[in-house]
Amino acid sequence: MRTRFLFSALTLGVAACTTTPRTDDRDSAIDASTDAPVEPMDSARAYEPEPFAPTERTRAYCGSADDAVIEARITDALRSLTRAEKRALMGGAALGRVEGVWLVRGVARLNVPGFRMIDGPRGVAVAPPHHATAFPTASLRGASWDPSLEERVARAIADETRAMGANVLLAPTMNVLRHPRWGRAQETYSEDTWHMGSMAVAFVRGAQSRGVLTSLKHFAANSIEDTRHTVDVQMDERTLREVYLPHFRRAIHESNAASVMAGYNQLNGRYCDLNGHLLTDILRGEWGFEGFVMSDWVLGTHGSVESVRAGLDLEMPVLNEYAALSSAVSMGLITEHEIDRSLRRMLRAQWCYGLDSRTYENHPELRETADTLALAREAARRGIVLLKNEPVAGRALLPLDTATVRSIVVLGRAANIANIGDRGSSAVSPSATVTALQGLTQRAGMSATVTAIDAATLSAAARAQVRAADVVIVVTGNVERDEGEGEIAAGDRASMELPSEETALIRDALAENPRTVVVLEGGSAITTASWDANVAALLWAGYPGARGGEAIADIVFGDAAPSGRLPFSMPESEGDLPAFDNASARVAYGYLHGYRHLQATRRAPRYAFGFGLGYSAVSYESIAVASSAVSATDVIEARVTVRNTGARSMRETAQLYVAAMGSTIMRAPMDLRAFEQREIAAGASETVTLRVPVSELAVWDEGSRSMRVEPGTYELRVGPDSERTPLRATITVR
Ligand code: BGC
Repeated sequence: MRTRFLFSALTLGVAACTTTPRTDDRDSAIDASTDAPVEPMDSARAYEPEPFAPTERTRAYCGSADDAVIEARITDALRSLTRAEKRALMGGAALGRVEGVWLVRGVARLNVPGFRMIDGPRGVAVAPPHHATAFPTASLRGASWDPSLEERVARAIADETRAMGANVLLAPTMNVLRHPRWGRAQETYSEDTWHMGSMAVAFVRGAQSRGVLTSLKHFAANSIEDTRHTVDVQMDERTLREVYLPHFRRAIHESNAASVMAGYNQLNGRYCDLNGHLLTDILRGEWGFEGFVMSDWVLGTHGSVESVRAGLDLEMPVLNEYAALSSAVSMGLITEHEIDRSLRRMLRAQWCYGLDSRTYENHPELRETADTLALAREAARRGIVLLKNEPVAGRALLPLDTATVRSIVVLGRAANIANIGDRGSSAVSPSATVTALQGLTQRAGMSATVTAIDAATLSAAARAQVRAADVVIVVTGNVERDEGEGEIAAGDRASMELPSEETALIRDALAENPRTVVVLEGGSAITTASWDANVAALLWAGYPGARGGEAIADIVFGDAAPSGRLPFSMPESEGDLPAFDNASARVAYGYLHGYRHLQATRRAPRYAFGFGLGYSAVSYESIAVASSAVSATDVIEARVTVRNTGARSMRETAQLYVAAMGSTIMRAPMDLRAFEQREIAAGASETVTLRVPVSELAVWDEGSRSMRVEPGTYELRVGPDSERTPLRATITVR
């Protein structure tokens, strides 16, 4: 009840606190939502902070800013800040958004600007009257398999973040898509840690290059909605290290992420914010992270002293548990030096990123520009996956043959709605959305009539229209009431099946007209086996964003060839996947899920991880490795030649999987470890170099409690998707 109430308050996005946070032992003289007054007794105190010498890591974090000067400035500030000011810096300022942003107040007299945070993963999460570009959700962008495109998207989102007067972007969501029914599947990129890492690295690089701090969320193992606030996710250390963490590590090491958001859930019996193993031993100790960790909202902080000690620096969105920190200092439960460690990280972030030398203003004219809207369309187009395209009367149904197609009938629950994702924290409000129907109608122009039939069941007259049409397009899939964030949106999906009315609609359309194209929208995999056998053309279009309808038309009419590849497996049936348990207090995550699970259990997917067709065809011709014997510090290099054997240019994604042959421990049959994309002209061939640092083949070694590369033989398998890897080469790791 309390949860629902607090979350409803959150979604209002207003400055007013509609409820009072718990105030057990907070100092009544201080109100976190106002500037912290200087406590008289405090201001007179003599306090000496711990000395701090800049390190290689703080230098790296600070980038081009002068880290030595900044660290000295932080030390001065820690000396001068009062306890009340320090405490106010440890938490957000209001339960709702202030001027559209989640606020952490600064301290004007020391030029500490504070943070102004905004979600999120598919564009700047503003609510009306504000607007921003609604990009396709991350799962569709993940399907582009193009980190450079993702970097451009992130730059655009960051520019719009600044144009909302914000300086921290609460993105990327990078939790493993362990099961397609996870309500926030749409927010994340992938079922696979390597693919996820590559996309998240690009996002962070892009956004931070525009001076906007990112927040890697939700750290870690947060892949269930309905029980997200309490569930205890159990897994062994090896699964954690190899499956649920590597993408976070990469975003820190390869793109220097500024902050991390701890998950709501428990991991092995400890809430993430209390989990020192996660936030301190691994994140800081092993990975050398020098940024700050914030809590997830409202119910993400479970202690004061305990959370600070575990490594949680900032309580969001409002000071609640952390209000008790100054009395904890007075009572000797924690030292001020310990609190300073958190403050140092947050001040470092603010000053290294130059947040103190900016003005924060709302610039609506800098959002939804022609460029960002074109980019949203491009990103959707590049993500859409063509799953099937079979001939009807001797010719592939797609792209539509504009010379002969004169009439199109459009059906389906998603045909004429703004189907751009859930209403959770990542929701974006664009000023307009082009629906699939609008996009198709606009593109058809004078060359074909487009008739929409807006009914779940077909009347006799509608059947006649369907029968008479040159092409029928059913736009269906999931919509916002099916899946989304917990509490504030629809939560986890009840089933991987389409609603029965929609499958009936597809069957009815097919019964009347074999020239039926099905466009599936939604956050991730939908099972299709019970109805797709006779569907000639099938597309997966995710939640395609504000310009999604145009992107669908681009592909359907062949103005662009499809090049998206599934970032998740579409199984024959849900029973082929590990169970999804969103009811139990404790759930166990095993080592395998997705394609690794399907391959290990020898179940062929309906559509494989990495799969997608184009309007041309390719053949994988040859592979050559630079060196067939490598050591743990080397980088494996495989040169692969791919030929476009068809009649149209094609963007192909060569995928490299690695299989450990003769390993002494249980392994996945193979793991994705590199991919590269090329546009290949018709008839031409391209040579692509795929690189894998040998260190990325490491597995968790319980004996030494570290990641180790097993010496031995590894097979490199390269091909167009996880089920087809025709090129093989063997290497030996010494
Ligand atoms: C979500 C976070 C989000 C935050 C602020 C929480 O409910 O889990 O992903 O950033 O709200 O909107």
